Amino acid sequence: MTAKLIKGSEIREQILAEIKDEVNKIKKDKGVVPGLVTILVGKNPASVSYVTLKIQTAEQLGFKEVQDNQPETISEAELLALIDKYNKDDSINGILVQLPLPKHINEKKVLNAIDPDKDVDGFHPVNVGRLMIGGSEVKFPPCTPAGIQELIVRAGVPTSGAEVVVVGRSNIVGKPIAMMMVQKGQGANSTVTMVHTATKDLAAHCKRADILIVAAGVPGLVKPEWIKPGACVIDVGVNRVGEKVNEKTGKKVAILRGDVDFDEAVKVAGWITPVPGGVGPMTITMLMKNTLKSLKFKLGIA
Ligand code: GUN
Repeated sequence: MTAKLIKGSEIREQILAEIKDEVNKIKKDKGVVPGLVTILVGKNPASVSYVTLKIQTAEQLGFKEVQDNQPETISEAELLALIDKYNKDDSINGILVQLPLPKHINEKKVLNAIDPDKDVDGFHPVNVGRLMIGGSEVKFPPCTPAGIQELIVRAGVPTSGAEVVVVGRSNIVGKPIAMMMVQKGQGANSTVTMVHTATKDLAAHCKRADILIVAAGVPGLVKPEWIKPGACVIDVGVNRVGEKVNEKTGKKVAILRGDVDFDEAVKVAGWITPVPGGVGPMTITMLMKNTLKSLKFKLGIA
């Protein structure tokens, strides 16, 4: 068997086209566009490249995009004041503070200062609570788990009653995706098991999974013999295992490897996401979807 590839890079294009259509329609009918502010503190190269991609995507969709770059030396009080300014700005529907923040700033305090109705990352405790309640309470599902669920649905993988095993218990991926898959509704309604570093027999749990979601951050952790034949394997791992020179640009680029031994797993699974080009491209896409949703909530059309 060779697994069907779930290509996030292609699914992203479909979703962006859908968002763009909706943005155009709202602009025509209501005269407004979604507004997103990206706050970047300092010049961490990975953060700069993520934020640049977010800005480019927002602009490509016709959003109002405010790029607010701040020096590494900004104080916590100044950053909180900035967030307060955007909380009160009617033209801004989404506030994104790129993480990580410098050590002298309390990340939790900053994330908690964002108006939960503009928290398009879905990291505020109010949105974490809304996600746990589920159904119509949910406003902004966190972007990576939302992208994973979208991939599963668009690939046509059955979820109702399916055994889902989530490897990893982070606040950003493991916990929220487990919560999302267990809720009632389309693309969910699954029986969910969470496994982690203290789990006794990781392989035995993984072998039971109809849908195996791996977000452990350990390159090649999941072996092909841990995969049930025909299962759907979602690899969230983006591990930098070295560097190579890009033949076209001559620039050094990271060699990325997932948490799953892809070359062997592809022979056993029914569906699998590649790394790169699987889950990765979905995160920014879902950020855009959440920003559009925020405007729609405000307009009463969500
Ligand atoms: N840093 C790395 N990933 C993310 C993300 O999804 N959101 C924010 N705000 N910062 C990040």
